[in-house]
Amino acid sequence: MEVTRERAWETLTRYTKSEALLRHALAVEASVGSYAQRAGDDEELWRATALLHDFDYEIHPTLDQHPQDGAAILREEGWPEEVVEAVLSHAEHLEMPRDTPLKRTLFACDELSGFVHACGLVRPTGLDGLEPKSVKKKLKQPSFAAGVHRDEVYAGAELLGLELDEHIRNVIAALQPIAPELGLRTAADAPAA
Ligand SMILES: [Fe+2]
Ligand SMILES: [Fe+2]
Repeated sequence: MEVTRERAWETLTRYTKSEALLRHALAVEASVGSYAQRAGDDEELWRATALLHDFDYEIHPTLDQHPQDGAAILREEGWPEEVVEAVLSHAEHLEMPRDTPLKRTLFACDELSGFVHACGLVRPTGLDGLEPKSVKKKLKQPSFAAGVHRDEVYAGAELLGLELDEHIRNVIAALQPIAPELGLRTAADAPAA
């Protein structure tokens, strides 16, 4: 099959109705897509993979099923192994090697996109004006976005060979253009002082 972002969206939305999960998929897609552009790699394939990485989470909410039972569905639908393997590799419990740039990027963007998104949601100007420094400060507050695995955020930047600041800055920049889709305010929405 031809791998397109549109086809991935179609598969994702067939299995996922939760707005929070769809927003997570869009955020990870935006981050992974921006890294594909930087690397001059196959942006369409990377975006499709990012959209699909948690496509089965709503029907398989536990780690004895997600994402391995989802992978079986993707194979049945004819998604290429490159996509399926990358989807599988995002899961820490499967302990698969992250031996391609796509696998490394997906892992590195998964938790951090969610975290940056959460940072934007509590600011009156959303992501506008958000600095890596304040994201790092929030990473050190265990109660903020407690579901985000901090160790995976740090490991992800290292896997990409990037300073955490740079990785955070890249993810903020990737999410800014889709702020409305992510339910985020922007500087234009902030009340005048
Ligand atoms: Fe997942
Ligand atoms: Fe995810």
